[in-house]
Amino acid sequence: MALVWNDNMELGIPTIDAQHKKLVELCGEAFDLSKEIEDGKDYYDDITMILTEIKKYTVEHFEYEESLMKEAGYANLLDHEMEHTFFVKKIEKLNKKEYDEPQEQKEFILNLSQVLFDWLSHHILETDKKYVETLK
Ligand SMILES: [Fe+2]
Ligand SMILES: [Fe+2]
Repeated sequence: MALVWNDNMELGIPTIDAQHKKLVELCGEAFDLSKEIEDGKDYYDDITMILTEIKKYTVEHFEYEESLMKEAGYANLLDHEMEHTFFVKKIEKLNKKEYDEPQEQKEFILNLSQVLFDWLSHHILETDKKYVETLK
């Protein structure tokens, strides 16, 4: 499955759509990196960089979304926040040791980009979609 933005993910709230697109792009960048990986080279720094960016941008996006939901008095705020927290923990749990060795790096980044993309698209399509009426 290609890790690209799909118009179904569009919620019609421009700031949020832009942030979602950026997150999907970062998954795509991770996926692209997996394809560039050549034997005998060390991609430790590249992987750390993209992972750090994904983490940072995810936290920013979740904080933004949560502030809008709070402002709008969204009823499912707590459940939604829990899903966000779960995802941040999932990213934080990734251990640098998992991609320390060059021979582990291709599979690590390929798997990571796919898992993140699946989680994100599912979250946008199922969970984020539910707040659209309240936030608009
Ligand atoms: Fe979101
Ligand atoms: Fe969300």
